[in-house]
Amino acid sequence: MTMNRQLLMLPGPTPLPARVMQAMAAPLMNHRSQDWSELYWEIEKGAKWAHQTQHDILMVAGAGTYGMEAAIANTLSPGDKVLALSMGYFGTRFGTIAERYGMEVDRLTYAQGQVINLADVAAKLEADTARQIKAVLVTHNETSTGTLNDLKGIADLVHAHGALILVDGISSVLTAPCPTDDWHIDILISASQKSYMAPPGLAFVSVSPKAWEAYAQSKLPRYALDFEILKDFANRGHNPWTPSMPVYYALKESMQMLQAEGYVQVIARHEHMMRAVRAGAQALGFRPLVQDEANASRCVTTLYPPEGMDAEAIRMHLLNTYNVMIAGGQGDLMGKIVRIGHLGYQSMAEIYGTLSCLEKTVQELGHVITPGAAVAAALAL
Ligand SMILES: Cc1ncc(COP(=O)(O)O)c(C=O)c1O
Repeated sequence: MTMNRQLLMLPGPTPLPARVMQAMAAPLMNHRSQDWSELYWEIEKGAKWAHQTQHDILMVAGAGTYGMEAAIANTLSPGDKVLALSMGYFGTRFGTIAERYGMEVDRLTYAQGQVINLADVAAKLEADTARQIKAVLVTHNETSTGTLNDLKGIADLVHAHGALILVDGISSVLTAPCPTDDWHIDILISASQKSYMAPPGLAFVSVSPKAWEAYAQSKLPRYALDFEILKDFANRGHNPWTPSMPVYYALKESMQMLQAEGYVQVIARHEHMMRAVRAGAQALGFRPLVQDEANASRCVTTLYPPEGMDAEAIRMHLLNTYNVMIAGGQGDLMGKIVRIGHLGYQSMAEIYGTLSCLEKTVQELGHVITPGAAVAAALAL
């Protein structure tokens, strides 16, 4: 570890603005007070804006996975048929949670770097003439492979069928459009440590009226994650269980910053960073796992190393020499790819810096490149 500030180029957790870090140093407060209710409602408003919903937003203490678990545990019953769409590590996780809760899970699985094929989904749903499929589980942005699904296309098919659509938007919310109500998403999950520029510890779960109807039918036991208990307290601006206050202090600041920037602008910033990383890395000989830019994640770019180079050697050199932290592959892709995050409190300045350090890294590891090629390609956009 050098003395320099580390550049955290991960798809979460992300760097935090100074204003956000300072806010977390504030004293703790009474979470049954009016002051807390006001803070709670401000965060709730910000999350509704991020999800683009007028419906309920519930706050689940914990990482994003707790939000995924809450979505399943509150809307389904043992034996229910569920269609789980998966293009990687996190899609597989969503299906596994449903299996653990006793659902009959039919998985539609795609190769790494591929997105969900709408025709396959349509065929599955059309074949279900008895309307037995109760829910479809989707990962909007698969962070392990750097793929972004056509969520609207999938949601339209599910809406026509009548099943619930439960969406893991943990890495997509505020990096790609996901208007919950317009697209008839029944549950959308996001998490504080991603685009929100806050620390981990809080999951947001938006719940449509149809998801509440499913709640009324659901026969699973639950307590700490129970929607009705969460909603009952939320009506008073409270959390049923003692919340992690610094996370809320952080979110108050970061949500103000994001809303001042604007919904469309935040998403455009992520798209610009994605395009620059793809262009710059390709100029160095990296090969994107996701061929078509339209299907590429807006928050993380997955890249095979230049011919003959080792992904982990590149990652370690970048870290040890330049203090730039990028992510490695997950699951089957471990050791095979690098993942450059461009999420949250990031701008083009960090992207150009990362590309320059990446260029020096591959050069120092013996790869022949044209000096300045990476940043030149990114600047040309
Ligand atoms: C798409 C997606 N789903 C789920 C998760 C799990 O989130 P957490 O680690 O907060 O539980 C992540 C985290 O990276 C993610 O990117």
